[in-house]
Amino acid sequence: MNNVVVVGSQWGDEGKGKIVDWLSEQADVIVRFQGGHNAGHTLTINGKVYKLNLLPSGIVRKGTLSIIGNGVVIDPWALIDEMKRISEQGIEISPTNLMIAENAPLILPIHSRLDIIREELKGKNKIGTTGRGIGPAYEDKVARRAIRVCDLFDEKIIIQRVDNLLTHYNPLFKGMGQEAINRDELINQIKDIASKITPFVGVAWKRLDEAHKKGEKILFEGAQGVLLDIDHGTYPFVTSSNTHAGQASAGAGVGADKLGFILGITKAYTTRVGSGPFPTELFDEVGEGLAKRGHEFGTVTERPRRCGWFDAVLVRQVNKTMGVSGMALMKLDVLDGIEELKICVGYDIDGKEYDHYPASTELQAKAKPIYETMSGWSESTYGCRDKSKLPKNAIAYINRIEELVETPVAVLSTSPERDDTILIQDPFK
Ligand code: GDP
Ligand code: IMO
Ligand code: MG
Repeated sequence: MNNVVVVGSQWGDEGKGKIVDWLSEQADVIVRFQGGHNAGHTLTINGKVYKLNLLPSGIVRKGTLSIIGNGVVIDPWALIDEMKRISEQGIEISPTNLMIAENAPLILPIHSRLDIIREELKGKNKIGTTGRGIGPAYEDKVARRAIRVCDLFDEKIIIQRVDNLLTHYNPLFKGMGQEAINRDELINQIKDIASKITPFVGVAWKRLDEAHKKGEKILFEGAQGVLLDIDHGTYPFVTSSNTHAGQASAGAGVGADKLGFILGITKAYTTRVGSGPFPTELFDEVGEGLAKRGHEFGTVTERPRRCGWFDAVLVRQVNKTMGVSGMALMKLDVLDGIEELKICVGYDIDGKEYDHYPASTELQAKAKPIYETMSGWSESTYGCRDKSKLPKNAIAYINRIEELVETPVAVLSTSPERDDTILIQDPFK
Protein backbone atom coordinates (compact mmCIF):
# COMPACT_ATOMS: atom_id res chain seq x y z
CA MET A 1 0.00 0.00 0.00
CA ASN A 2 1.47 3.31 -1.15
CA ASN A 3 -0.76 5.83 0.51
CA VAL A 4 -0.77 7.80 3.76
CA VAL A 5 -3.59 9.71 5.46
CA VAL A 6 -2.50 12.59 7.71
CA VAL A 7 -5.13 13.54 10.30
CA GLY A 8 -5.15 15.73 13.40
CA SER A 9 -5.76 13.74 16.60
CA GLN A 10 -6.69 16.63 18.89
CA TRP A 11 -8.38 20.02 18.31
CA GLY A 12 -6.33 21.01 15.26
CA ASP A 13 -3.00 22.82 14.84
CA GLU A 14 -1.04 19.71 15.76
CA GLY A 15 1.48 20.31 12.98
CA LYS A 16 -0.22 18.56 10.05
CA GLY A 17 1.21 21.04 7.54
CA LYS A 18 4.78 20.39 8.63
CA ILE A 19 4.38 16.62 8.36
CA VAL A 20 2.49 16.69 5.03
CA ASP A 21 5.25 18.87 3.61
CA TRP A 22 7.95 16.57 4.98
CA LEU A 23 6.22 13.40 3.71
CA SER A 24 5.46 14.98 0.33
CA GLU A 25 9.07 14.28 -0.65
CA GLN A 26 7.92 10.70 -1.15
CA ALA A 27 4.46 11.46 -2.58
CA ASP A 28 3.20 12.04 -6.12
CA VAL A 29 -0.24 13.43 -5.31
CA ILE A 30 -1.38 15.38 -2.24
CA VAL A 31 -5.12 15.74 -1.68
CA ARG A 32 -7.21 17.75 0.79
CA PHE A 33 -10.47 15.95 1.57
CA GLN A 34 -12.49 18.12 4.00
CA GLY A 35 -12.68 21.52 5.67
CA GLY A 36 -11.96 24.77 3.93
CA HIS A 37 -9.99 27.92 4.57
CA ASN A 38 -10.67 27.56 8.29
CA ALA A 39 -7.48 25.45 8.17
CA GLY A 40 -4.11 27.11 8.68
CA HIS A 41 -1.16 24.86 7.92
CA THR A 42 2.34 26.21 8.51
CA LEU A 43 5.43 24.98 6.68
CA THR A 44 8.94 26.13 7.53
CA ILE A 45 11.58 25.35 4.94
CA ASN A 46 15.08 26.69 5.58
CA GLY A 47 13.63 29.48 7.67
CA LYS A 48 11.05 30.48 5.05
CA VAL A 49 7.49 30.24 6.34
CA TYR A 50 4.46 29.34 4.18
CA LYS A 51 0.94 29.58 5.59
CA LEU A 52 -1.61 27.56 3.66
CA ASN A 53 -5.37 27.53 4.09
CA LEU A 54 -6.98 25.81 1.12
CA LEU A 55 -3.99 24.80 -0.96
CA PRO A 56 -2.68 21.36 -0.11
CA SER A 57 0.73 21.51 1.60
CA GLY A 58 2.25 19.63 -1.34
CA ILE A 59 1.99 22.79 -3.44
CA VAL A 60 5.50 23.90 -2.43
CA ARG A 61 7.04 20.60 -3.57
CA LYS A 62 8.00 20.66 -7.28
CA GLY A 63 6.88 17.69 -9.33
CA THR A 64 3.86 16.82 -7.18
CA LEU A 65 0.18 17.29 -7.98
CA SER A 66 -2.05 18.96 -5.38
CA ILE A 67 -5.77 18.22 -5.43
CA ILE A 68 -8.56 20.03 -3.60
CA GLY A 69 -11.05 17.20 -3.22
CA ASN A 70 -14.85 17.17 -3.32
CA GLY A 71 -15.10 17.02 0.49
CA VAL A 72 -13.61 20.51 0.79
CA VAL A 73 -15.80 23.64 0.83
CA ILE A 74 -14.11 26.16 -1.46
CA ASP A 75 -14.29 29.92 -1.14
CA PRO A 76 -13.13 30.81 -4.65
CA TRP A 77 -12.16 34.37 -3.70
CA ALA A 78 -10.07 33.15 -0.77
CA LEU A 79 -8.48 30.53 -2.98
CA ILE A 80 -7.46 33.04 -5.64
CA ASP A 81 -6.03 35.36 -2.95
CA GLU A 82 -4.08 32.51 -1.44
CA MET A 83 -2.72 31.43 -4.82
CA LYS A 84 -1.52 34.98 -5.38
CA ARG A 85 0.08 35.19 -1.93
CA ILE A 86 1.88 31.86 -2.32
CA SER A 87 2.96 32.67 -5.90
CA GLU A 88 4.53 35.84 -4.54
CA GLN A 89 6.62 33.60 -2.28
CA GLY A 90 8.07 32.01 -5.40
CA ILE A 91 5.85 28.95 -5.76
CA GLU A 92 4.52 28.27 -9.26
CA ILE A 93 0.85 27.31 -9.33
CA SER A 94 -0.77 26.19 -12.57
CA PRO A 95 -3.20 23.52 -13.78
CA THR A 96 -0.22 21.16 -14.02
CA ASN A 97 0.25 21.11 -10.25
CA LEU A 98 -3.20 22.05 -8.93
CA MET A 99 -6.54 20.39 -9.59
CA ILE A 100 -9.90 21.33 -8.09
CA ALA A 101 -12.55 18.60 -7.92
CA GLU A 102 -15.51 19.44 -10.14
CA ASN A 103 -17.96 18.23 -7.49
CA ALA A 104 -16.72 20.37 -4.59
CA PRO A 105 -19.26 22.85 -3.15
CA LEU A 106 -18.52 26.57 -2.91
CA ILE A 107 -18.44 28.95 0.03
CA LEU A 108 -20.17 32.21 -0.94
CA PRO A 109 -20.17 35.60 0.80
CA ILE A 110 -23.63 34.70 2.18
CA HIS A 111 -22.07 31.89 4.17
CA SER A 112 -19.48 33.92 6.03
CA ARG A 113 -22.09 36.61 6.63
CA LEU A 114 -24.47 34.08 8.21
CA ASP A 115 -21.63 32.47 10.19
CA ILE A 116 -20.75 35.82 11.78
CA ILE A 117 -24.38 36.86 12.42
CA ARG A 118 -25.11 33.55 14.15
CA GLU A 119 -22.04 33.77 16.34
CA GLU A 120 -23.04 37.28 17.41
CA LEU A 121 -26.56 36.10 18.23
CA LYS A 122 -25.17 33.26 20.36
CA GLY A 123 -23.25 35.73 22.53
CA LYS A 124 -21.34 33.95 25.27
CA ASN A 125 -22.51 30.57 23.95
CA LYS A 126 -20.76 31.09 20.64
CA ILE A 127 -18.73 28.25 19.11
CA GLY A 128 -15.85 30.55 18.32
CA THR A 129 -15.86 29.69 14.62
CA THR A 130 -13.32 31.14 12.22
CA GLY A 131 -16.18 33.18 10.68
CA ARG A 132 -15.33 31.85 7.25
CA GLY A 133 -18.72 30.38 6.42
CA ILE A 134 -17.71 26.75 6.84
CA GLY A 135 -20.84 25.67 8.76
CA PRO A 136 -23.41 27.38 6.49
CA ALA A 137 -21.65 26.08 3.35
CA TYR A 138 -21.77 22.48 4.58
CA GLU A 139 -25.42 22.99 5.56
CA ASP A 140 -26.19 24.01 1.97
CA LYS A 141 -24.34 20.97 0.67
CA VAL A 142 -26.37 18.60 2.83
CA ALA A 143 -29.58 20.52 2.05
CA ARG A 144 -28.86 19.93 -1.68
CA ARG A 145 -28.85 23.59 -2.67
CA ALA A 146 -25.10 24.26 -2.86
CA ILE A 147 -23.47 25.81 -5.90
CA ARG A 148 -20.65 23.52 -6.95
CA VAL A 149 -17.45 24.04 -8.88
CA CYS A 150 -18.93 22.33 -11.97
CA ASP A 151 -21.71 24.97 -12.05
CA LEU A 152 -19.15 27.70 -12.74
CA PHE A 153 -18.87 26.75 -16.43
CA ASP A 154 -22.33 28.03 -17.41
CA GLU A 155 -23.72 31.49 -16.61
CA LYS A 156 -27.33 30.31 -16.99
CA ILE A 157 -26.74 27.65 -14.38
CA ILE A 158 -25.11 30.15 -12.02
CA ILE A 159 -28.27 32.31 -12.22
CA GLN A 160 -30.56 29.32 -11.63
CA ARG A 161 -28.52 28.17 -8.66
CA VAL A 162 -28.44 31.63 -7.08
CA ASP A 163 -32.21 32.03 -7.47
CA ASN A 164 -32.75 28.66 -5.85
CA LEU A 165 -30.41 29.60 -3.00
CA LEU A 166 -32.20 32.88 -2.38
CA THR A 167 -35.55 31.14 -1.89
CA HIS A 168 -33.91 29.83 1.25
CA TYR A 169 -31.72 32.74 2.33
CA ASN A 170 -33.93 35.77 1.82
CA PRO A 171 -36.73 34.60 4.14
CA LEU A 172 -34.05 33.51 6.62
CA PHE A 173 -32.29 36.88 6.63
CA LYS A 174 -35.63 38.71 6.74
CA GLY A 175 -36.65 36.68 9.79
CA MET A 176 -33.41 37.66 11.50
CA GLY A 177 -34.06 41.31 10.74
CA GLN A 178 -31.15 41.38 8.29
CA GLU A 179 -30.89 43.01 4.89
CA ALA A 180 -31.89 40.85 1.92
CA ILE A 181 -29.19 39.54 -0.41
CA ASN A 182 -28.47 41.55 -3.51
CA ARG A 183 -29.19 38.96 -6.21
CA ASP A 184 -27.51 40.71 -9.12
CA GLU A 185 -24.42 41.57 -7.13
CA LEU A 186 -24.02 37.95 -6.04
CA ILE A 187 -24.51 36.64 -9.59
CA ASN A 188 -21.93 39.09 -10.92
CA GLN A 189 -19.44 38.21 -8.18
CA ILE A 190 -19.72 34.52 -9.04
CA LYS A 191 -19.50 35.14 -12.80
CA ASP A 192 -16.37 37.23 -12.28
CA ILE A 193 -14.51 34.64 -10.24
CA ALA A 194 -15.64 31.66 -12.35
CA SER A 195 -13.12 32.12 -15.16
CA LYS A 196 -10.26 32.21 -12.64
CA ILE A 197 -11.27 28.85 -11.17
CA THR A 198 -12.38 26.82 -14.21
CA PRO A 199 -8.87 26.24 -15.69
CA PHE A 200 -8.02 24.19 -12.59
CA VAL A 201 -11.16 22.06 -12.53
CA GLY A 202 -10.87 18.34 -13.14
CA VAL A 203 -12.34 14.93 -12.42
CA ALA A 204 -10.36 14.33 -9.25
CA TRP A 205 -11.55 10.79 -8.48
CA LYS A 206 -10.46 9.72 -11.97
CA ARG A 207 -7.03 11.31 -11.66
CA LEU A 208 -6.64 9.56 -8.29
CA ASP A 209 -7.67 6.25 -9.84
CA GLU A 210 -5.00 6.74 -12.52
CA ALA A 211 -2.48 7.56 -9.80
CA HIS A 212 -3.36 4.31 -8.10
CA LYS A 213 -3.00 2.30 -11.32
CA LYS A 214 0.39 3.85 -12.02
CA GLY A 215 1.57 2.99 -8.51
CA GLU A 216 1.87 6.67 -7.56
CA LYS A 217 1.85 7.52 -3.90
CA ILE A 218 -1.08 9.52 -2.59
CA LEU A 219 -0.87 11.63 0.55
CA PHE A 220 -4.22 12.66 2.04
CA GLU A 221 -4.08 15.91 4.02
CA GLY A 222 -6.64 16.32 6.76
CA ALA A 223 -7.59 19.65 8.28
CA GLN A 224 -8.70 20.39 11.87
CA GLY A 225 -8.60 17.43 14.27
CA VAL A 226 -10.87 14.56 15.27
CA LEU A 227 -11.98 16.33 18.47
CA LEU A 228 -13.54 18.88 16.07
CA ASP A 229 -15.22 16.13 13.99
CA ILE A 230 -18.97 16.59 13.54
CA ASP A 231 -19.64 13.03 14.81
CA HIS A 232 -16.71 12.21 17.08
CA GLY A 233 -15.77 15.65 18.39
CA THR A 234 -16.90 17.75 21.35
CA TYR A 235 -20.29 18.55 19.78
CA PRO A 236 -21.59 21.26 19.35
CA PHE A 237 -18.15 22.87 19.75
CA VAL A 238 -16.89 21.33 16.52
CA THR A 239 -16.46 22.16 12.86
CA SER A 240 -19.07 21.09 10.31
CA SER A 241 -17.19 18.31 8.53
CA ASN A 242 -15.94 14.84 9.29
CA THR A 243 -12.29 15.37 10.07
CA HIS A 244 -11.93 11.63 10.65
CA ALA A 245 -9.54 9.55 8.52
CA GLY A 246 -12.49 7.73 6.92
CA GLN A 247 -13.49 10.99 5.26
CA ALA A 248 -10.32 10.78 3.14
CA SER A 249 -12.12 8.14 1.08
CA ALA A 250 -15.44 9.97 0.58
CA GLY A 251 -13.91 13.45 0.39
CA ALA A 252 -11.40 12.55 -2.32
CA GLY A 253 -13.27 9.80 -4.19
CA VAL A 254 -10.87 6.97 -3.43
CA GLY A 255 -11.81 3.49 -2.23
CA ALA A 256 -11.58 3.02 1.53
CA ASP A 257 -9.33 0.01 0.89
CA LYS A 258 -6.74 2.34 -0.70
CA LEU A 259 -6.16 4.69 2.21
CA GLY A 260 -3.07 2.94 3.57
CA PHE A 261 -1.25 4.16 6.68
CA ILE A 262 -3.27 6.41 8.99
CA LEU A 263 -0.86 8.87 10.60
CA GLY A 264 -2.38 10.70 13.59
CA ILE A 265 -0.66 14.04 14.12
CA THR A 266 -0.50 14.50 17.88
CA LYS A 267 0.91 17.38 19.89
CA ALA A 268 2.98 16.36 22.93
CA TYR A 269 0.59 18.58 24.95
CA THR A 270 -2.88 19.93 24.05
CA THR A 271 -4.20 23.14 22.51
CA ARG A 272 -7.57 24.41 21.41
CA VAL A 273 -8.80 27.58 19.66
CA GLY A 274 -12.39 28.71 20.14
CA SER A 275 -14.96 27.65 22.74
CA GLY A 276 -15.76 24.24 24.16
CA PRO A 277 -14.65 21.84 26.86
CA PHE A 278 -10.95 21.23 27.48
CA PRO A 279 -10.41 19.12 30.60
CA THR A 280 -6.62 19.55 30.87
CA GLU A 281 -6.57 23.29 30.15
CA LEU A 282 -4.02 25.22 32.22
CA PHE A 283 -4.61 28.72 33.54
CA ASP A 284 -1.24 29.13 35.25
CA GLU A 285 2.33 30.00 34.29
CA VAL A 286 2.93 26.45 32.96
CA GLY A 287 0.15 27.01 30.40
CA GLU A 288 1.54 30.44 29.59
CA GLY A 289 4.98 28.88 29.08
CA LEU A 290 3.55 26.33 26.61
CA ALA A 291 1.78 29.11 24.70
CA LYS A 292 4.93 31.22 24.59
CA ARG A 293 7.44 28.52 23.65
CA GLY A 294 5.00 26.85 21.25
CA HIS A 295 3.98 30.19 19.64
CA GLU A 296 0.41 29.10 20.17
CA PHE A 297 -1.50 31.70 18.19
CA GLY A 298 -4.07 30.67 15.56
CA THR A 299 -2.75 30.76 11.99
CA VAL A 300 -6.16 31.80 10.64
CA THR A 301 -7.63 34.13 13.25
CA GLU A 302 -4.50 34.94 15.27
CA ARG A 303 -6.45 34.19 18.43
CA PRO A 304 -4.33 32.85 21.33
CA ARG A 305 -4.66 29.09 21.58
CA ARG A 306 -5.72 27.63 24.92
CA CYS A 307 -3.00 25.26 26.24
CA GLY A 308 -2.95 22.27 28.58
CA TRP A 309 -1.44 18.92 29.46
CA PHE A 310 -1.48 15.89 27.17
CA ASP A 311 -4.81 14.08 27.42
CA ALA A 312 -4.19 10.38 26.84
CA VAL A 313 -7.87 9.50 27.27
CA LEU A 314 -8.94 11.76 24.42
CA VAL A 315 -6.14 10.71 22.07
CA ARG A 316 -6.77 7.00 22.78
CA GLN A 317 -10.46 7.52 22.02
CA VAL A 318 -9.63 9.34 18.78
CA ASN A 319 -7.13 6.67 17.75
CA LYS A 320 -9.71 3.93 18.36
CA THR A 321 -12.54 5.67 16.51
CA MET A 322 -10.49 6.19 13.37
CA GLY A 323 -7.88 3.45 13.47
CA VAL A 324 -4.51 5.20 13.71
CA SER A 325 -1.59 3.11 12.40
CA GLY A 326 1.00 5.36 14.02
CA MET A 327 1.35 8.81 15.55
CA ALA A 328 3.56 11.74 14.70
CA LEU A 329 4.34 13.22 18.12
CA MET A 330 4.87 16.94 17.61
CA LYS A 331 6.43 19.85 19.48
CA LEU A 332 8.29 17.75 22.03
CA ASP A 333 10.77 20.64 22.34
CA VAL A 334 8.05 22.88 23.81
CA LEU A 335 8.11 20.69 26.95
CA ASP A 336 11.85 21.35 27.52
CA GLY A 337 12.60 22.74 30.97
CA ILE A 338 9.30 21.81 32.63
CA GLU A 339 10.15 20.12 35.92
CA GLU A 340 7.10 17.90 36.20
CA LEU A 341 4.83 16.77 33.37
CA LYS A 342 1.25 15.63 33.78
CA ILE A 343 -0.71 13.26 31.57
CA CYS A 344 -4.47 12.85 31.90
CA VAL A 345 -5.34 9.16 32.36
CA GLY A 346 -9.02 9.38 33.31
CA TYR A 347 -11.78 11.74 34.42
CA ASP A 348 -13.76 12.30 37.55
CA ILE A 349 -17.32 13.30 36.67
CA ASP A 350 -19.65 13.82 39.63
CA GLY A 351 -17.47 11.49 41.72
CA LYS A 352 -17.54 8.69 39.13
CA GLU A 353 -14.39 7.63 37.31
CA TYR A 354 -14.40 7.50 33.50
CA ASP A 355 -11.82 5.92 31.17
CA HIS A 356 -13.44 7.62 28.15
CA TYR A 357 -14.91 11.03 27.34
CA PRO A 358 -18.71 10.75 27.34
CA ALA A 359 -20.75 12.33 24.54
CA SER A 360 -23.03 14.43 26.74
CA THR A 361 -22.13 18.14 26.55
CA GLU A 362 -23.11 18.54 30.21
CA LEU A 363 -20.92 15.65 31.40
CA GLN A 364 -18.02 16.80 29.20
CA ALA A 365 -18.13 20.22 30.84
CA LYS A 366 -17.90 18.64 34.30
CA ALA A 367 -14.98 16.27 33.58
CA LYS A 368 -12.07 16.78 35.98
CA PRO A 369 -8.83 15.21 34.81
CA ILE A 370 -7.11 12.45 36.79
CA TYR A 371 -3.39 12.92 36.30
CA GLU A 372 -0.30 10.80 36.29
CA THR A 373 2.91 12.74 36.94
CA MET A 374 6.28 12.22 35.28
CA SER A 375 9.64 13.93 35.64
CA GLY A 376 10.47 16.40 32.92
CA TRP A 377 13.90 17.19 31.43
CA SER A 378 16.11 20.25 31.55
CA GLU A 379 18.09 19.62 28.35
CA SER A 380 17.10 21.17 25.00
CA THR A 381 15.52 18.83 22.48
CA TYR A 382 14.98 21.67 19.97
CA GLY A 383 16.06 20.57 16.50
CA CYS A 384 17.06 17.06 17.64
CA ARG A 385 17.18 14.63 14.71
CA ASP A 386 18.28 11.48 16.49
CA LYS A 387 16.01 9.68 18.93
CA SER A 388 18.99 8.20 20.81
CA LYS A 389 20.13 11.74 21.66
CA LEU A 390 16.88 12.64 23.41
CA PRO A 391 17.01 12.96 27.23
CA LYS A 392 16.02 9.74 28.98
CA ASN A 393 13.01 11.41 30.59
CA ALA A 394 11.80 12.50 27.16
CA ILE A 395 12.04 8.89 25.97
CA ALA A 396 10.15 7.76 29.08
CA TYR A 397 7.42 10.35 28.32
CA ILE A 398 7.11 9.15 24.71
CA ASN A 399 6.99 5.51 25.80
CA ARG A 400 4.29 6.23 28.38
CA ILE A 401 2.16 8.05 25.80
CA GLU A 402 2.47 5.10 23.42
CA GLU A 403 1.38 2.77 26.19
CA LEU A 404 -1.55 4.88 27.36
CA VAL A 405 -2.97 5.60 23.91
CA GLU A 406 -2.19 2.07 22.66
CA THR A 407 -0.59 3.37 19.45
CA PRO A 408 3.07 3.45 18.37
CA VAL A 409 4.91 6.69 17.61
CA ALA A 410 6.06 6.62 13.96
CA VAL A 411 7.47 10.16 13.72
CA LEU A 412 8.84 12.70 16.22
CA SER A 413 9.11 16.44 15.63
CA THR A 414 11.38 18.83 17.50
CA SER A 415 11.08 22.19 15.70
CA PRO A 416 9.01 23.89 12.98
CA GLU A 417 11.73 23.19 10.38
CA ARG A 418 10.92 20.57 7.76
CA ASP A 419 13.96 18.40 8.52
CA ASP A 420 13.93 18.58 12.32
CA THR A 421 11.92 15.39 12.22
CA ILE A 422 12.80 11.90 13.44
CA LEU A 423 11.56 8.93 11.45
CA ILE A 424 10.85 5.80 13.47
CA GLN A 425 8.56 3.95 11.08
CA ASP A 426 8.16 5.14 7.47
CA PRO A 427 4.40 5.49 6.87
CA PHE A 428 4.92 4.98 3.12
CA LYS A 429 6.61 1.60 3.57
P1 GDP B 1 -1.62 22.45 11.49
O1 GDP B 1 -2.85 23.26 11.41
O2 GDP B 1 -1.85 21.10 12.10
O3 GDP B 1 -0.89 22.33 10.19
O4 GDP B 1 -0.65 23.21 12.50
P2 GDP B 1 -0.33 24.79 12.50
O5 GDP B 1 0.60 25.08 11.40
O6 GDP B 1 -1.59 25.57 12.60
O7 GDP B 1 0.35 24.94 13.92
C1 GDP B 1 1.50 24.21 14.26
C2 GDP B 1 2.59 25.22 14.64
O8 GDP B 1 3.66 24.55 15.28
C3 GDP B 1 3.21 25.89 13.42
O9 GDP B 1 3.58 27.19 13.77
C4 GDP B 1 4.44 25.03 13.14
O10 GDP B 1 5.46 25.74 12.49
C5 GDP B 1 4.85 24.67 14.53
N1 GDP B 1 5.53 23.37 14.67
C6 GDP B 1 5.27 22.21 14.02
N2 GDP B 1 6.03 21.21 14.53
C7 GDP B 1 6.76 21.76 15.52
C8 GDP B 1 7.70 21.22 16.46
O11 GDP B 1 8.01 20.05 16.49
N3 GDP B 1 8.25 22.10 17.36
C9 GDP B 1 7.91 23.42 17.39
N4 GDP B 1 8.49 24.19 18.31
N5 GDP B 1 7.02 23.95 16.53
C10 GDP B 1 6.45 23.13 15.62
P1 IMO C 1 -6.19 23.35 11.22
O1 IMO C 1 -6.39 22.58 9.94
C1 IMO C 1 -7.85 24.66 15.04
C2 IMO C 1 -12.14 25.49 15.17
C3 IMO C 1 -12.58 26.92 15.37
C4 IMO C 1 -13.87 26.69 16.15
C5 IMO C 1 -14.45 25.44 15.49
C6 IMO C 1 -15.50 25.70 14.42
O2 IMO C 1 -5.30 24.51 11.10
O3 IMO C 1 -5.83 22.41 12.32
P2 IMO C 1 -15.37 26.62 11.91
O4 IMO C 1 -14.88 27.92 11.38
O5 IMO C 1 -14.66 25.43 11.36
O6 IMO C 1 -16.85 26.47 11.84
O7 IMO C 1 -15.03 26.68 13.49
O8 IMO C 1 -13.34 24.78 14.90
N1 IMO C 1 -11.22 25.27 14.02
C7 IMO C 1 -9.93 25.01 14.16
N2 IMO C 1 -9.14 24.96 15.25
N3 IMO C 1 -7.33 24.37 13.83
C8 IMO C 1 -8.09 24.37 12.73
O9 IMO C 1 -7.64 23.97 11.52
C9 IMO C 1 -9.45 24.75 12.85
N4 IMO C 1 -10.47 24.90 11.98
C10 IMO C 1 -11.55 25.20 12.71
O10 IMO C 1 -11.65 27.63 16.13
O11 IMO C 1 -13.59 26.37 17.47
MG1 MG D 1 -3.54 25.14 11.92
